[in-house]
Amino acid sequence: MKLIILAGGGGTRLFPLSRTCLPKQFLKLGNSDSLLTQTVKRFLPLLKPADIIVVTNKEYTHHVKTELATCGAGGAHILLEPVARNTAPAIALATRFCQDKLGTSGEEVLFVTPADHIVHPVDIFIKNVRQAVELAEQNKVVTLGIKPDKPETGYGYIQAGKSFGSGYKVESFREKPDKDTAEQYLADGNYYWNSGMFAFTAGCIMEEFSAHMPEIYQLASAPLTEVVSNFEAMPNISIDYAVAEKSDRVVMAPLTAYWNDIGSWDAIYDVLDKDHSGNAINGDCLPIDCSNTLMLGRNRLIAGVGLEDVLVVETDDVIVVAKRGESQKVKDVVNELKARG
Ligand code: GDD
Ligand code: MG
Repeated sequence: MKLIILAGGGGTRLFPLSRTCLPKQFLKLGNSDSLLTQTVKRFLPLLKPADIIVVTNKEYTHHVKTELATCGAGGAHILLEPVARNTAPAIALATRFCQDKLGTSGEEVLFVTPADHIVHPVDIFIKNVRQAVELAEQNKVVTLGIKPDKPETGYGYIQAGKSFGSGYKVESFREKPDKDTAEQYLADGNYYWNSGMFAFTAGCIMEEFSAHMPEIYQLASAPLTEVVSNFEAMPNISIDYAVAEKSDRVVMAPLTAYWNDIGSWDAIYDVLDKDHSGNAINGDCLPIDCSNTLMLGRNRLIAGVGLEDVLVVETDDVIVVAKRGESQKVKDVVNELKARG
């Protein structure tokens, strides 16, 4: 088995702490290790560093190298994309790398994971991974799914069908539905969130690209150096839209470990320790008669009076103040700033 760690995303939802120059995977959240380091460490009981491939953008080389070295995984491979083209091309490139440089056969399982989630405890997680790998060996595209507890619109939804080994056949996969649809899925009870972790054999994923994304298949079928030099021509698409929504051989392995993609300030609030009034405080903050707030300060004192359900994040040049429950929309601030130039 080879592990492909996707660590090239730009990160907009945790603005202003995550910027294009320091996206979420490099932030230390709820732990003294960054999320990338936490990801690598979770898998070290299962495989050796030489079986790990971190796919990232060339801008992040320094961060990735330093982090791998400090967590004892200096022997892992770093695969650099010349431009970001989302996760489907990143996975295709990593698959070609494994085949060309690491001698991966069509039957070897590739386990793909995002680099920016919190997952624990490790022993339960490892059991979940082993189950997914077993299913992948049966020539399936395996996703690891989580029982949802709210109508989150930032995730993919997996409709579970009949049992299949230790998992389920997938009836349908829908990436990032709108709020109404997410609410229907939650009420239905048969839908799971996609964790963004996948397992398949190298042969299986190349067949899936060939069937559903011939442009990616063609570009990724060339020798590795050519795949890199032509990478810009890859379509910009995630593996969820490119394969998971289209393939008829998707199965789901349940992820029973605690999982949080901390994709928003609300999710950060959830994972941080709180005081007796439910305030999650970090940095120089003075909450007076405040309850259920998040205050993250870096340089200046944050003094809050009578606040309830408010998120305040202060950095050198930006202060974001948001209502709890609305923080998915922080990415709209980033989009607005980009549009302004
Ligand atoms: N190498 C590389 N190149 N990595 C990338 C790129 C890229 O162009 N784009 C994103 N990534 C990495 C991110 O750093 C992250 O670790 C992972 O791929 C997933 O990308 P996100 O951009 O965070 O995806 P998402 O959160 O919107 O959605 C995915 O994850 C959800 C769970 O957190 C989907 O798989 C959803 O279906 C899923 O529910
Ligand atoms: Mg994500």
